[in-house]
Amino acid sequence: MIKRIAKITLKVLVLIVTLSVFAYLYLFYSLNARIEKAYAIEPRAIAFNTDVALLVQGEHLYTIKGCADCHGPDLGGKVMFDDLAVGVFGGSNITYGEGGLPKDYTSKDWLRALRHGINKESKPLLIMPSQEIYKLSDKDISALIAYCMNQPPVNNKVPPVKLRPLGTILSALGQIPLISAEHIDHAYTAPVAVEALPNAVYGEYLAVSCSGCHKQNFKGGKSEVPGMKPYPDITASGSVDRWSEQQFIQTLRTGTTPEGKQMKNEEMPWQMTKAYTDTELKALYVFLKQQ
Ligand code: HEC
Ligand code: HEC
Repeated sequence: MIKRIAKITLKVLVLIVTLSVFAYLYLFYSLNARIEKAYAIEPRAIAFNTDVALLVQGEHLYTIKGCADCHGPDLGGKVMFDDLAVGVFGGSNITYGEGGLPKDYTSKDWLRALRHGINKESKPLLIMPSQEIYKLSDKDISALIAYCMNQPPVNNKVPPVKLRPLGTILSALGQIPLISAEHIDHAYTAPVAVEALPNAVYGEYLAVSCSGCHKQNFKGGKSEVPGMKPYPDITASGSVDRWSEQQFIQTLRTGTTPEGKQMKNEEMPWQMTKAYTDTELKALYVFLKQQ
């Protein structure tokens, strides 16, 4: 009798292991097909110039769009995350130094990366959040690119993005935002410029940077990362409604809410939001209050 039970248990175990291996292989190969997909896209050409005002705006955008979080303040890149189960995620060196972009990486290639989330070979970039960048106006994106292309070369080799088994499973199941090219409307035509005014139109334009965490409708929700606190509602149905414009600005500049809650920069990136101009924060406030 005991022998029989042991035999059945063994069979069930073998079946479970076999099924798990097949499930994993299925996830691995389907994800791989998405990673290897070539996107037949030519970015729309835009005007570039390198006047000083444009470079200053480019530097501001590099800061407020959080590029430095992954590529470092000097654009030399850095490993952001290295985990034995999940994988290695490093923002690449985006200067023209050793380990950085190839010398023939043109402004068109920059547009490919920022507007379409793809590399020079038309394959999707991994982890790079182009879905939050691609709607930038022609003027802003040209400023950002001109600034980046004019930074001094940094010699630094960053290991490429590498997924380990748990990272593969989480990415295949959509728990890690891996392939921004899949979340971009590649036919979108960005405006030539958006006027920097303290109004809802400009606020909506800026708020794309908040939507990755506070969700598309800014009403918050649970985090993709297990164990992280949920994202709060930052619209009229959330605490923003109770705060004056001054209190909202104060919160995003100091990381402390009017109720005295001190937010951690690793959770709510207020070191980044503190660099927003008054006009930008006012515009965000006006827009979010209308949601
Ligand atoms: C969440 C982290 C993250 C943020 C934020 C981020 N990047 Fe990246 N970026 C990456 C990673 C990772 C890669 C490497 C992707 C790959 O090779 O598949 C990358 C690649 C790039 C590339 C190289 C593309 C290529 O063809 O090899 C450029 C250019 C770039 N990023 C520019 C920017 C700019 C400008 C910003 C800010 C607007 C930015 N990135 C924000 C993670 C990030
Ligand atoms: C990387 C994710 C992330 C991004 C990007 C982000 N936030 Fe947050 N935000 C959070 C988290 C998490 C909290 C909650 C922090 C806490 O409770 O300590 C928060 C809290 C807030 C709060 C306080 C809300 C309350 O009720 O206490 C405001 C206001 C806010 N964010 C506005 C913004 C705006 C505006 C942007 C875009 C410019 C933005 N956030 C971008 C993650 C993010």
